[in-house]
Amino acid sequence: MLVAQISDIHARPALSSLQTLERAIGWLRTFRPDALVVTGDLVDDGWRQGYRLVAESLRSLDCPVHLLPGNGDDLQLMRSELAAVDPWISATGPMHFRAAIDGLTLFGVDVTVAGQSYGDVLPHLPWLMSALADVTAPALLFMHQPPFRIGIEVLDQVGCRNSTALLSTLKAMDRLPLAILCGHVHRPAFGRLGSIPVQTCGSLAPPNPLLLEGRADLPVIDAPSFLVHEVSDVRLVSHVVSIPTSDRSA
Ligand SMILES: [Fe+2]
Repeated sequence: MLVAQISDIHARPALSSLQTLERAIGWLRTFRPDALVVTGDLVDDGWRQGYRLVAESLRSLDCPVHLLPGNGDDLQLMRSELAAVDPWISATGPMHFRAAIDGLTLFGVDVTVAGQSYGDVLPHLPWLMSALADVTAPALLFMHQPPFRIGIEVLDQVGCRNSTALLSTLKAMDRLPLAILCGHVHRPAFGRLGSIPVQTCGSLAPPNPLLLEGRADLPVIDAPSFLVHEVSDVRLVSHVVSIPTSDRSA
């Protein structure tokens, strides 16, 4: 089972990330994953045409596509332009999803908070508990803001709040998810929430600098990237696929 994850496209008229999206989707069309999850921040500044272009690109894939919003998304535009891409996009309320593919369950929890850059999982724990209640198969849990400390202060200020309550909720379930898979950070990063692996997907927009423990603000040399998760029973291996771009200034 191959689940691709792309994140943080941040499409804007002046950015090259739509071209990066096209390159990623072109690669995925040939690769043929069993599903694609987009973990938020599709378009910046409420650019309606951007949502249309992202939808057109995603519709060219021959697999189910599931979407979460990020803090940068305009939820109304996302609903109106992308409803045909993901049947789980709701007319109102949080954009959670739950999908089963050949014995693997994919959960998406919309932890965005209107008008804020941080996320908060607490209001959505009742939904998560009911969605997970009857799941006995392996599961992957997707969110936009990650529920762990990245170590980059500016990003940790806008992470997902109430991660301890999330861990308590998950531990009360019969089976822990194989991993929690997020976006928002614009870098691939790997950590844990309790014993659950947490990973952030690289961005299709330019990556963020690695501002760790007061180290110098070095120029970013990372390429945009995305993840391919291979799941076989309870085995999960996640692969980083990078997309070198000739236009690093965009
Ligand atoms: Fe974000």
